[in-house]
Amino acid sequence: MGADAHNPGHMSPDAFRREGHRLIDWIADYWESLEERPVVGDTKPGDVLKALPTSAPESPGGEREWDDIVRDLDAVIAPNLTHWQSPRFFAYFPCNGSGPGVLGELVSAGLGVNGMLWSTSPAATELETRMLDWCADLHALPEAFKSTGAGGGVIQGTASEAAVCALVAARKRAGGDPRTLAVACSEQAHSSIAKAAMVAGLADGPEDATHIRLVRTGPEGAMDPVHLREQLRTIDGVRPAMVVGTLGTTSTGAFDRIDDIPRAIADAGLDRERVWVHIDAAWAGSAFVCPEHRGPMAGIEHADSVCINPHKWGLVTFDCDLFWVRDRRALTDALSITPEYLRNEATDAGAVIDYRDWQVPLGRRMRALKLWFVLRHYGAQGLRAHIRRGVELAAAFESWVRADERFEVPVDRSLGLVCFRLRAGDDASERLLRELNRRGRVLVSHTRVPVGEGRAETYLIRFAVGATLTERRHVVEAWDEIRAAADAVLG
Ligand SMILES: Cc1ncc(COP(=O)(O)O)c(C=O)c1O
Repeated sequence: MGADAHNPGHMSPDAFRREGHRLIDWIADYWESLEERPVVGDTKPGDVLKALPTSAPESPGGEREWDDIVRDLDAVIAPNLTHWQSPRFFAYFPCNGSGPGVLGELVSAGLGVNGMLWSTSPAATELETRMLDWCADLHALPEAFKSTGAGGGVIQGTASEAAVCALVAARKRAGGDPRTLAVACSEQAHSSIAKAAMVAGLADGPEDATHIRLVRTGPEGAMDPVHLREQLRTIDGVRPAMVVGTLGTTSTGAFDRIDDIPRAIADAGLDRERVWVHIDAAWAGSAFVCPEHRGPMAGIEHADSVCINPHKWGLVTFDCDLFWVRDRRALTDALSITPEYLRNEATDAGAVIDYRDWQVPLGRRMRALKLWFVLRHYGAQGLRAHIRRGVELAAAFESWVRADERFEVPVDRSLGLVCFRLRAGDDASERLLRELNRRGRVLVSHTRVPVGEGRAETYLIRFAVGATLTERRHVVEAWDEIRAAADAVLG
């Protein structure tokens, strides 16, 4: 057998350079094309599957394949996406991407290091530690959350993973059988909190009210402190191990009052040392770079952990959740395990951070690079400008909605999020959303939440400003579209 019998056909450096340049061009062209593309195509289930071969290629396409790959990106992939980077994407919370963020992803992939241990790539760990300390300062977190004290931060993929890690640490600290422990959070908390309770073995399912204590919200959307205290009771031997405060709820951007949490824990007669306080600021937390948006952080010094997703509003390309703990030992005590094959001198000496002890998976890529690139490119000023622009545009949009008597804004705007509806009611508002999204020029999403003093469950259309490329003209265009869709719905 010849020496090349098992040549897999790796890409040559020259071909990588050529195709890499071509794909960077492709991405830049794609971003430019977003002005014109509908935000959502009219893909039917199975359309993409039909366009793809049913089995993997047997013979290598090699360097000749790349023309076809790029053609398929244009023909099969791009037309069948929801364009999250579109400047007319106002649904859910936009997931920011940015040039510096994408380049950080690219370099991370190119380096291809696994930073599971400090020793498996020291720069991966130390860059991440420094970035999390920078971000703690930028977002005005207490010093206690920095690695220079007993705390520190880590990049998780998502806020959901952060919630799992917080709960696992809380469970360990509380002690006892997981089935004797509960989580308390707002009825408006993100579903990832209930999911964390399921993953961590506390709850049977999302409806398990013994182990997932949902707290009613008041007119402002914050947890009602009286009901919070009630929900912290020990019921049938089950006691809360973690209370989650949400800063910026997913539905309406409401803020829990953090100060109410330690008070309720004390009033319920629980040992504060055995109840973990986690603050989920996945979306709104990015706004804390602006001093004028830090009001809801009052009481943050009571938190044991905090998470913020720069991949939502902080210009860092998905995925990037920043997760800080006040006591890193509490986290690593819950998640550390060292099989022989991972032992090394630096770890044994206790001289380093091994981030595999701060997360569920072992392996981890170098996500800190994209954070570093974004922070250096934009600086704090650029990040503040991005947030302020989003808030200003949302405020303008809100004023236009309020001025049109067919519409109402039943809950106050929160930062870049406006929740509105047709006065004609839930059905009409639902039809408006469908009509809008069918037209395809803008994308919005919806929620159903208790509203006002009566807390009647109400259908709301959510308009979230914050996509990287959104400018005033896109918001103006969106409002024109919404009015035209309302004309069609109301006749
Ligand atoms: C307040 C809040 N927490 C958690 C999440 C979940 O985020 P992730 O996708 O990072 O798990 C979201 C998502 O929108 C959110 O709004």
